[in-house]
Amino acid sequence: MRIAVIGAGYVGLVSGACFSDFGFEVVIVDKDKSRIARLEAGKIPIYEPGLEDLVARNRDAGRLSFTASLPAAMKRADAVFIAVGTPTRRGDGFADLTYVYAAADEIARCLAGPCVVVCKSTVPIGTNREVLRRIKAIRPDAAVDVASNPEFLREGSAIEDFKRPDRVVVGAESEQARAVMQSLYRPLSLNETPILFTGLETAELIKYAANAFLATKITFINEVADLCERVGANVQEVARGIGLDRRIGPKFLHAGPGYGGSCFPKDTLALVSTARSAGAPIRIVEAVVDVNEARKRAMAERVLAALDGDLSGKTVAVLGLTFKPNTDDMREAPSLVIVPALQAAGARIRAHDPEGMAEAAKLLDDVEWCDGPYHAAEGSDAIVVITEWDAYRALDVVRLKRLMKGDAFFDLRNIYKTAEMADRGFRHFGIGIGQPGIAEKVAEPLKSVAV
Ligand code: NAI
Repeated sequence: MRIAVIGAGYVGLVSGACFSDFGFEVVIVDKDKSRIARLEAGKIPIYEPGLEDLVARNRDAGRLSFTASLPAAMKRADAVFIAVGTPTRRGDGFADLTYVYAAADEIARCLAGPCVVVCKSTVPIGTNREVLRRIKAIRPDAAVDVASNPEFLREGSAIEDFKRPDRVVVGAESEQARAVMQSLYRPLSLNETPILFTGLETAELIKYAANAFLATKITFINEVADLCERVGANVQEVARGIGLDRRIGPKFLHAGPGYGGSCFPKDTLALVSTARSAGAPIRIVEAVVDVNEARKRAMAERVLAALDGDLSGKTVAVLGLTFKPNTDDMREAPSLVIVPALQAAGARIRAHDPEGMAEAAKLLDDVEWCDGPYHAAEGSDAIVVITEWDAYRALDVVRLKRLMKGDAFFDLRNIYKTAEMADRGFRHFGIGIGQPGIAEKVAEPLKSVAV
């Protein structure tokens, strides 16, 4: 089997490299010539653990190559994967399908023999059918089929996720498409991965419904965290207490600064728009979108409130900028809201991130970029941990405190314990960790109602 992959981004690179590792011949094509030149020189344009070795191994074995020429990539290809971006369209929240349809039109012009066009990009309902219609309009003679194959990998553990997924979803409506997709995913049968064959629309919706559900779970625990702070409860214990119920499960119950990233924000928005235009609004996801947006701003307000409502002349050390650890992806990262909000309140920002600083520097102005957490802490009034990189999990907090001017530690990922930090001279602000005594005030009226 020979595969072409359009798009050398997070999904295209990982999928292509993993398929080649399974033994297929894979050519990855990107219109960004500099990206291809870097890949050909053995440089990986994104940070994803294990990807550099995986790519090198398969290039050396002659199974994986890169090109900027689609006709070359598609020569004798049994399947061509579309793995281009589907960002939010300006103005209406729908997914912008410009790149997907441009890829479809380019594919149509390059088709040589029978081929299955597989959409791996996250695309709204109806897109795969439209891709087929466009290709047929350009090449009515072509022996072409489409398959919808949404991707569920997570940045940071993408290779493991691709090779050992919980399930594979394939929307396919012809024998040819089903047969090709079955062969491509046969290597996963070793781990007994369920492969769900569905119709095109169902596969497209599964991806959006999955992401919206996960975003809802995060947003739910974030709001429970706010309640915990008011009533003196502990959100980590609440999360454990509910997560041990197998109907709920422990994952995605970590309270934090709100979700970000290249998928949840745009996919929830796209689902909201699709559902509204279909006359079946999903109001719970609409609420999730609003609550999550407000939450990022609320994180900066927390810092402001704890520092007497005034940040002018104060220095804040920010640790972690990417939307989650083990990636350099800054798309929709909470830091992109929190840092400018702190600056607007007058704060000077010193920041560090293990992998994201080059990208962050393109998106954030007037930040002093630091070599590490201790460098960032120098002379600061407060530290704000936004992303829970491993490098921040066992900080020498005594050393940090010595380097700082102030004593406030905003731990937006609950890495440290408030009592232990207090022993080391910090005012520690976790997420959803209610302070003893607060319950009295809030609970009193409730008690009287109960009586
Ligand atoms: P990305 O932005 O990292 O990469 C897209 C690549 O496609 C870019 O390098 C771009 O130059 C290239 N490209 C665009 N149009 C092209 C064309 N006509 N010909 C050749 N190359 C072209 O995007 P990413 O993050 O890989 O996402 C791709 C899709 O996968 C999106 O729909 C996303 O929602 C979905 N997805 C992303 C996940 C993630 O964790 N990043 C996870 C699951 C799905």
